[in-house]
Amino acid sequence: MSRRAKTLEWREGVLYLLDQTRLPAEVKVVECRTHQEVGEAIERMVVRGAPAIGAAAAYGVVLGAWEFAGEDEEGLWRHLEAVLERLRRTRPTAVNLFWALERMRRAALNRRGQGVQAIKEELEKEAHEIAREDVEANQRLGIHGAELVPAGSGILTHCNAGALATVDYGTALAVVREAHRQGKGIRVYADETRPFLQGARLTAWELQEDGIPVTLIVDGAAAYVMKKQLVQLVIVGADRIAANGDVANKIGTYGLAILAREHGIPFYVAAPLSTVDLRLKSGEEIPIEERSPREVTHIFDYRVAPEGVGVLNPAFDVTPNRLVTAIITDRGVVRPPYEENLRRLVGFPVLM
Ligand code: MRU
Repeated sequence: MSRRAKTLEWREGVLYLLDQTRLPAEVKVVECRTHQEVGEAIERMVVRGAPAIGAAAAYGVVLGAWEFAGEDEEGLWRHLEAVLERLRRTRPTAVNLFWALERMRRAALNRRGQGVQAIKEELEKEAHEIAREDVEANQRLGIHGAELVPAGSGILTHCNAGALATVDYGTALAVVREAHRQGKGIRVYADETRPFLQGARLTAWELQEDGIPVTLIVDGAAAYVMKKQLVQLVIVGADRIAANGDVANKIGTYGLAILAREHGIPFYVAAPLSTVDLRLKSGEEIPIEERSPREVTHIFDYRVAPEGVGVLNPAFDVTPNRLVTAIITDRGVVRPPYEENLRRLVGFPVLM
């Protein structure tokens, strides 16, 4: 049993989020009582990581529904549309957000005509389902992925694709957790992941809390650890996977995939099927979020770049499918050709 505080928790009408902007210095929980508070928490990255954003947004819809005090269903529908739209505008890249919001919209539609109370209750039930399914999917994904991990491996990961990026257990780190549980004697090399430092602040903290061996490196040391044969595989998470297997993930992932190819190291992506977006033909169509220049010019409140310098701060990049050795999902490991094999695995059109 992990000692870690939960990424998100719903208790008696309040969404509690572990504040990921403060970790590891401070373990602080933020309370959200309105959908606006959830929207702001996603934007500020109090909660982040594709599946965690989706689950938090689902609870945001529940809070939004309970904000409506009236008895007329039409009024609730108008209010819910505004709530959904507010939450859609938080972060553009991770498809899990839109997937979860669409699931919530459909859940509400299923109760159309049954009254305000029935719709509110159905929404709460659906948010719990999304959260529960996420943990189960991650555990299954971990079991599939662990088969790809040779005993004694060094595993390079980027950003945080762990319990903190999901409701629990993680995606890339689900594979790590399962391999560790099986006694494979693995060690994780965690990229610090500038500028938000998800690797240094979150992955290092989460793995340490759970007693899994971890070594922190600066982003620029990835080629070095590969050349020195300290890592035998790379496993990252994903924010959106297009139908052809192109993968959007944290900025710097594409570079790692190129380095892995050069060094003959397998490059794996671990993600639940809620991250696959079959509507998009290729990664070219994935919207890439640009975040504030301040994340680059400052480390916390300390300015590290000269005043007035031009900054480009894309939060994600797209790794082309040809550099991806396999995609580890909750329904098994998918290998090229991705177009065909992802569609076969999903088996039916992914919601949306
Ligand atoms: O900007 P973030 O921290 O939300 O980015 C998160 C990532 O890029 C993760 O690798 C991705 O969401 C997968 S999380 C299981």
